[in-house]
Amino acid sequence: MSTYDNVIVEIADYVATITLNRPEKKNCMSPALHAEMHQIMKTMDWKKVKVLVITGAGQSFCAGMDLEQCFLEPFDDPEKMEEINTNGFGWFTAVKNCPAVTIAKVNGWCFGGGMELAGICDIVLAAEDTVWGLSEVNFGIFPGGGTTWAYANNIPARKQALYYALTAETFTGAEGVGLGYVTRAVPLAELDAECERVVGLLTSKGRIVLTKTKEVYEKVIWMDFEPAIDYEMAKLWELSRETNDDWVRTALASFKKREFKPGTQSYKLTTEV
Ligand code: COA
Repeated sequence: MSTYDNVIVEIADYVATITLNRPEKKNCMSPALHAEMHQIMKTMDWKKVKVLVITGAGQSFCAGMDLEQCFLEPFDDPEKMEEINTNGFGWFTAVKNCPAVTIAKVNGWCFGGGMELAGICDIVLAAEDTVWGLSEVNFGIFPGGGTTWAYANNIPARKQALYYALTAETFTGAEGVGLGYVTRAVPLAELDAECERVVGLLTSKGRIVLTKTKEVYEKVIWMDFEPAIDYEMAKLWELSRETNDDWVRTALASFKKREFKPGTQSYKLTTEV
């Protein structure tokens, strides 16, 4: 475990868990938190991580940017503003491009930049009664720094997406499922167990296949069908070589012996690929 002032980082069994740790400020993101997160995302040994879980300490996931420390106080200090932007957008981009599967475990308040953070993760597990909001218009700006991108890409229906950005009306984690923002919502008391269950499903798979599944999805959604076929087949070759053809040598060899049913079970990894 590494020690930081604003976050807690734990790494075990191919799972990195980062807890935003400013509960007295509802885990809003200060310049110091951005700097720590930027450093963590840059220096993490991603070959040892299949899943990255991001959550919040106490009763909040993340109340967005620290409005005082990120906007108000450095307003007349361009160098400080540049540093905040470099670190903040740097670690958000690193989460978006993370080779590990990213899970936002939303345990409480989720506003503004917090919604961006959840929105750039691959999977969002939320407590049903968490409160979410694009609060920016409430203080006179629109969602920026990637937050418009995040809500627009997570709430596919225009009439829903713009409604929440224009009104700042809040919605719950349970409602977030219907909107497309939340993968699964459970009662708060079950959130840890549900997260552990999903993490277990993921860590039973190879690291490289998880990374490439993400990468292929992200690229293919922009492609026409025929180039997508070509791209997928090229990436399959890459996967096969980088895993020493484990899908054939181990997985399909094991299936031939009827050792597992691929519809409902994963093959047993014999090496970590
Ligand atoms: N920036 C700076 N400080 C924040 C903050 C933020 N985004 N979110 C919460 N805080 C601070 C509060 O000002 C308060 O500080 P204080 O103890 O010095 O008075 C402390 O965190 C606790 O918050 P409080 O408002 O007392 O908690 P609450 O449970 O009554 O309300 C929220 C929780 C999340 C509804 C409320 O804090 C809030 O509206 N926060 C701003 C959310 C937002 O608009 N974020 C978007 C930023 S991009």
